[in-house]
Amino acid sequence: MTRTAIITGAASGIGKATQELLNTQGLRTIGVDLKGSDIDADLSTPEGRQQAVADALAAADGNVDVVVASAGISAPIAKTSAVNYFGVVEFVEGLRESLAASAAPRVALVSSFSSLQPVSDALVDAMLAGDETEALRIGGEAEAQGPGPGFVNYSSSKRGIIRWMRRAAPTAEWAGAGIAINAVGPGVVETPMTAELIRDMGDALDKQLPMPLNGHARAETIAAVLGFLVSEANTHMTGQMLYVDGGGEALLRGDDIWSQLPPVGGEAPGDAPE
Ligand code: NAI
Repeated sequence: MTRTAIITGAASGIGKATQELLNTQGLRTIGVDLKGSDIDADLSTPEGRQQAVADALAAADGNVDVVVASAGISAPIAKTSAVNYFGVVEFVEGLRESLAASAAPRVALVSSFSSLQPVSDALVDAMLAGDETEALRIGGEAEAQGPGPGFVNYSSSKRGIIRWMRRAAPTAEWAGAGIAINAVGPGVVETPMTAELIRDMGDALDKQLPMPLNGHARAETIAAVLGFLVSEANTHMTGQMLYVDGGGEALLRGDDIWSQLPPVGGEAPGDAPE
């Protein structure tokens, strides 16, 4: 049976490339964006998200198999928290019931390399608590301090969706319903979002986010990874964040994240106390 995919941010960049890829793979696709896609929606407000969910369900005749959440903004403002966190989580949650009825339901989120950059813990906590009013208050305070401090709206939103995903993925509502939910963390991708940044920052950007493997990516490269995550072939990967960043994460974090990892599931046999 033809699978139906909903893609947010489908009018541009990574979302657009993903819709094009899924079309070529024979899926029925429905794009969601502010304008210029199949469904016009503003994911920055609770009302806009509710309407987007209702319109997406109607367009899909209630049968959603795939959701790719790519819509996002990178401005150092509180609205970024609203679009990039609540616009992802509430939209995906609104489609969960329909996904649960699919034979092979898959969700993929677009986080970012920026999830590793400094965040506001209070802002991430407010996001995870589902408190949008508080998140906008904290984000607004950061915004008022200027673009540098305001950037935590972006990094925190990208950290927040990963943490939400990690909590949700293995639960009865998601894994128990057969729904795989994963995320990608792109480095620098050449899309309308970054055109100005790449032009203005040049080498400074590459110093901040080195990409030793093949440099800046194209939207199609990220779409290819998203395509696998939402494919029927992905039967067992869930709750994972895949950095698609030319090795930036590996370079900057090294292998220490593995040497410092607390053990799970008890002590290793060799480490057992005498
Ligand atoms: P883009 O600007 O080309 O596309 C983003 C799309 O989201 C646009 O079509 C825009 O209209 C839509 N959008 C923005 N606000 C919206 C709202 N309130 N309601 C509905 N749609 C809205 O950007 P790009 O590069 O394709 O970004 C896609 C995702 O990838 C974003 O979440 C971004 O944070 C993430 N990302 C991008 C990177 C890059 O280097 N381009 C790097 C890491 C992550």
